[in-house]
Amino acid sequence: MKISLIAGARPNFMKIAPLARALSDAGIQPRIIHTGQHYDARMSETFFRELNIPDPDVNLGVGSGTHVWQISETMRCLELEFTENRPDAVLVVGDVNSTLAAALTATKLGIRVGHVEAGLRSLDRSMPEEINRVVTDSVSDWLFTSEPSAEDNLRREGVAPERIHPVGNVMIDTLRSHLDSAKAMRRHEKLGLKAGSYAVLTLHRPSNVDRPEQLESIMRAVHRVSGQLPVVFPIHPRTESRIRQFGFLDRDELNGFTSIEPQGYLAMLSLMESSRFVLTDSGGIQEETTALRVPCLTLRENTERPVTIDLGSNQLVGSRTEDILAAVQRILDGPTRIGRVPESWDGRTAERIARLLEDLVQP
Ligand code: UD1
Repeated sequence: MKISLIAGARPNFMKIAPLARALSDAGIQPRIIHTGQHYDARMSETFFRELNIPDPDVNLGVGSGTHVWQISETMRCLELEFTENRPDAVLVVGDVNSTLAAALTATKLGIRVGHVEAGLRSLDRSMPEEINRVVTDSVSDWLFTSEPSAEDNLRREGVAPERIHPVGNVMIDTLRSHLDSAKAMRRHEKLGLKAGSYAVLTLHRPSNVDRPEQLESIMRAVHRVSGQLPVVFPIHPRTESRIRQFGFLDRDELNGFTSIEPQGYLAMLSLMESSRFVLTDSGGIQEETTALRVPCLTLRENTERPVTIDLGSNQLVGSRTEDILAAVQRILDGPTRIGRVPESWDGRTAERIARLLEDLVQP
């Protein structure tokens, strides 16, 4: 059985790691295709090394551009790749542009597609990822879901029940298998921080970082929080260039955080695990903090991952300075670890997907 496994951007790598392993344990050697959407070593290579992902069989080297260019260039390269090395099925993960490009290309070539992390919906069509999710799901043959809301969304959209496979969360497979090594790293100590007495911030979503007023409102809150406890900010290349471009570095009331390079997987996990709370606009981090039971404040108006709020440690706070500060205060007044971990996030999701694929894919 020939399976091509697609990855392109940072949040994909922790999802393909357990899949590559589970497939190969099941005797299926996946062909790993890196689209090249993320190309900086610290956004890509580091993850392959730390997570023991086999080197990609091919890297398409697509790189950055407008979304339309990035998606169409990825599709053009993938058409050649899938034609030369035709798989029986393509497995895509998450919601990045590479996910959409691969699902659409495979479908057009008559190759079946499995989508891992299917069915998530923010219902906010201004998010590029929401369009990617909706289109990817609509063309995928097998929809592997990570939380109950995803099954509900797909059923509401009229997807046949036999296409929906509730399996759990592959990213949490990776978290569980690497937590001990991450803890042993004690990344915070190298930054002179004490466990439980600092916050972690991540920020990269265009809706937050491309609009000066929005970013200013968040950075103003971060400045005030940093008066109470240190805020460590592993900074995405896009966010860094916006902060410079908007001239924020020269304004004291928007500074005060400790900015560090984008972190590798283990360092980031170590930092989150020992933090008092996390402030983020990432999708994956909402789930990772839920798995760690670390309080998470999401700097967005909506989430496609409601289980992290219903059961987990997450709450939505938007981007208004006063709202963020009020939520931070509530967290500081409350317990250090909160919420429950969804039952199916048990570290065995990739194994379940590999078993299902053995039945679903007939070469
Ligand atoms: C992408 C995903 C987003 C995910 C995020 C995680 C889409 C639509 N977005 O957003 O869902 O949460 O990855 O990081 O697919 N850049 C570099 N080095 C790199 C890659 C990018 O410097 O290795 C810079 C470039 O200036 C580039 C910009 O970051 O233009 C944005 O990169 P892009 O891949 O378009 O989207 P992300 O914002 O990273």
